[in-house]
Amino acid sequence: MGVNSNSQIPSLSRLAEAMKKDNGKAILQLAHGGRESAYSQNNDYQAIAPSKMDFPWLDYDVKEMTNDDINKIIDDFATATQRAIDAGFDGVEIHNGNHDLLQQFFSAFSNQRIDKWGGSLSNRMELPLAVLKAIRAVIDDNKQADFILGWRISPEEIHGENIGYKVDEMLAQAKKAVEIGIDYLNVSLTGLQYNYAAMPQGYNESFAELFDKISGEAPVFIGSQIHTVADGMAALDNAEGVYIAREALIDPEFTAKVIDKKEDEIVTTMTFERLKEIGLSDGLLKTYATLTDWAKAILLKGLKY
Ligand SMILES: Cc1cc2nc3c(=O)[nH]c(=O)nc-3n(C[C@H](O)[C@H](O)[C@H](O)COP(=O)(O)O)c2cc1C
Repeated sequence: MGVNSNSQIPSLSRLAEAMKKDNGKAILQLAHGGRESAYSQNNDYQAIAPSKMDFPWLDYDVKEMTNDDINKIIDDFATATQRAIDAGFDGVEIHNGNHDLLQQFFSAFSNQRIDKWGGSLSNRMELPLAVLKAIRAVIDDNKQADFILGWRISPEEIHGENIGYKVDEMLAQAKKAVEIGIDYLNVSLTGLQYNYAAMPQGYNESFAELFDKISGEAPVFIGSQIHTVADGMAALDNAEGVYIAREALIDPEFTAKVIDKKEDEIVTTMTFERLKEIGLSDGLLKTYATLTDWAKAILLKGLKY
């Protein structure tokens, strides 16, 4: 699935229409995997990254991006936004977290460039913010005042000795994003390491509370490990909105059951039978069935399977 070609607009339109059918909002996440582009790499493309490094968990080499490559990425995000508008989406969410390309540029670990796109904190935020500005301009040019622009972030990147950035640096980046103009700030927490109430080391406030302080009018969404209404209500102590990921796969009717006050009918346990029941395609089912132990832990932690 992608938004990298005009030929995808008809099928994306069908998706947007289905998502909006029962008054939902259809927001398309725009992501570039950068070095984490195994699918493209295996399909005649070259994975690109801010810096050419040896990443031990990748079984392919990455290409260091040229200045032209970087400018093309900014244009591509803008073009993808135009396609989302043309396909009838209510908004786009820029994926600036989860180790995707924009985070790779913000990370002092994976961005070792010595040009204007790397080095200082302000240089490392240059590409994510340039992408945000380009997308804002497309929305404004289309006179789409109600079109929603979300900004998804990973609040810190700390892997033992390898520190990409700490929360204070991401707070500085998010402040700039708020100034440029975002409609919500989506704080991504990975299901294994953190839950919705997690606090950065050395702080007495949760990630959600810290980002709420700098987000101005933009609501903060938080998530991770939300499987019940009680979890969701607890998360709302810290943020204005919650997101659910794995629970949406386990029980696609989660939201409908919350609205209809059928909370006791919510399924919170994933089994392989359940995977088949909810109708995941064979391909996706195989992906789940062949997950690495690490991915299984992320996906199914605390859940029976
Ligand atoms: C199979 C899988 C795919 C995911 N894909 C994305 C993605 O494309 N974009 C994104 O922002 N987060 C993605 N995530 C992360 C989730 O959005 C979420 O942050 C994480 O799973 C923790 O929330 P949860 O406990 O509700 O699952 C993915 C997670 C899983 C398990």
